[in-house]
Amino acid sequence: MLVGPIHIDPPFIPAPMAGISNPPFRRLCAEQGVPLAYSEMVSAEGLIRREKKGLALLARIPGEAPLCVQLFGARPAAMAEAARIVTDHAAAAVVDVNLGCPAKKVVKSGAGAALMRRPALAGEVIAAVRRNTTLPLTVKIRSGWNSASPNARQIALIAREEGADAIIVHGRYAKQGFTGQADWDVIADVKSGLNIPVVGNGDVTTPRDAVEMIRRTGCDAVMIGRAARGNPWIFSQAADLWAGKEVRAVSPTERRRAALAHARLLAEHVGSKRAVFMLRAVLGWYVKGLPGATAFRQAINTSLSLEWTLAAAEAFFAASARGHDAVDLAKVVSGP
Ligand SMILES: Cc1cc2nc3c(=O)[nH]c(=O)nc-3n(C[C@H](O)[C@H](O)[C@H](O)COP(=O)(O)O)c2cc1C
Repeated sequence: MLVGPIHIDPPFIPAPMAGISNPPFRRLCAEQGVPLAYSEMVSAEGLIRREKKGLALLARIPGEAPLCVQLFGARPAAMAEAARIVTDHAAAAVVDVNLGCPAKKVVKSGAGAALMRRPALAGEVIAAVRRNTTLPLTVKIRSGWNSASPNARQIALIAREEGADAIIVHGRYAKQGFTGQADWDVIADVKSGLNIPVVGNGDVTTPRDAVEMIRRTGCDAVMIGRAARGNPWIFSQAADLWAGKEVRAVSPTERRRAALAHARLLAEHVGSKRAVFMLRAVLGWYVKGLPGATAFRQAINTSLSLEWTLAAAEAFFAASARGHDAVDLAKVVSGP
């Protein structure tokens, strides 16, 4: 599958996730061979006001895969200007329009998934972006607003008409948020009615799921969100499986290296003060399922010092790799 000049091969892509898919996360995914990675969603209104927060979301760090910047907004004029800013900002290789975010604040402004309810306006927004960027354009949609209005196929056709190069389908209604089960049949339905690439998304939790989604829906690529948190290997493992190779288990050393690299990159990227708080979640993902994970999480949740958090993580992973009971680790490192 091609998005503009970019070969989406292997066909497994990390999803945009607000607060998560920042440059350090994307860099870790790039190390596992992803062909493209999405930014957190960026407010078009904030970007055109040159707000710091929005501009910061356009940043990249060395070693990342090509970047798709995802925009959300309900005013075609604002989306047009934002698309121009993204295009002039050399970092982006692709632009995406968010038609899937169900967050109250976003929907109240008429953006995100609210646009699934207003197909004509959705078309205008996509057209405005298309006219103002030379970059390939993707559009990320849901199954519809609610089960009374299953219009993914209609919106996908509009997006194609307005110049989208690929459609990403999250098989849930906006009203479902993240509850229930993603409906992969919606992905198959959109794919069967469209002559541009379709990326399937929703509830892929293992490499096997990722390959299965392609087989079952006929989609051209798979986007993985939550299952990639603290688990960038899901991309290389899915690629191996897709290529008919055996899936390689992640060694404790690899896990340790990745978690600490992610932590250090985050500290460099957002500064130590913010990183300490963000790492409570980030390191929590990497230790998930390991012995002593709960105690480790509790320990770093009270830490206000980056050095302490990093030392605790080093100690946790070192003992974990030696096969020791990691529960005692919090005691190894003196309190924060
Ligand atoms: C914390 C979080 C933040 C998200 N932020 C965005 C976002 O900024 N833009 C977007 O299009 N989707 C966003 N999503 C939705 C994901 O991209 C994806 O569609 C959804 O999680 C389903 O895929 P999954 O089952 O693989 O997680 C977010 C999801 C989560 C869990």
